[in-house]
Amino acid sequence: MVRMLKHDNELKPRLVVLISGRGSNLCAISDAIQTNQLHADLVGVISNRQNAKGLQEAEKRGIPTFCRHQASYKNQQSFENALLGQLKKLKPDVIVLAGFMSILSSQFVAAYRGKIVNIHPSLLPKHKGLHTHRRALAAKDTKHGCTTHFVTEKLDDATAIIMQATVAVKTKDTKETLAQRVLAQEHRLYPKTLELLCRKQIVYDKNRCFYNGKALEEPLRLEQLT
Ligand code: GRF
Repeated sequence: MVRMLKHDNELKPRLVVLISGRGSNLCAISDAIQTNQLHADLVGVISNRQNAKGLQEAEKRGIPTFCRHQASYKNQQSFENALLGQLKKLKPDVIVLAGFMSILSSQFVAAYRGKIVNIHPSLLPKHKGLHTHRRALAAKDTKHGCTTHFVTEKLDDATAIIMQATVAVKTKDTKETLAQRVLAQEHRLYPKTLELLCRKQIVYDKNRCFYNGKALEEPLRLEQLT
């Protein structure tokens, strides 16, 4: 019995979550592991801001935390070198960006190609970048939502989308109410995406996403997988 458990642990993919702030997606991922919905080991959380609330959440959960405070490095490259140094020690199978507010260089992406994923609060390719909820309302979108994707050299790359969850926009929505409903979907979407990745049902190859061996022509839909 003990040997089986040990073997099981050895097979679990190692996740490292990169954060900058609140850390609610980090908590959702950690909870999914605790409740056996996600079969992975969360081996570390790294923040690029020393006051990130998510660091405290990780500590409460007993997850090893690290901070590489970006503002104290002289440039992006020296910050990324420090980050790469810590990642080398943690040996991640998947690097999970969860509200990580730093645009990684192409050299960094190349070092972990196909192993970095991100969650973005819009239905990519719509509304890349910041203020997505405000922009969805301004555009009078009737649907909004969130997207998980592999990280490539391009910001919020829509060519490597994995999965999306959709939220209907209500006429009375403010950016706050919309953000709240999208965030609730993010907390379901990210663990589900990671579980498929950890089971190797989702694979990245040459900037394309494959699901059960077939190239994805359009994003997987969370609604259809749960
Ligand atoms: C989320 O909305 C995520 O989609 C975006 O940043 C936010 C992070 O929130 N990339 P949290 O830190 O996980 O609570």
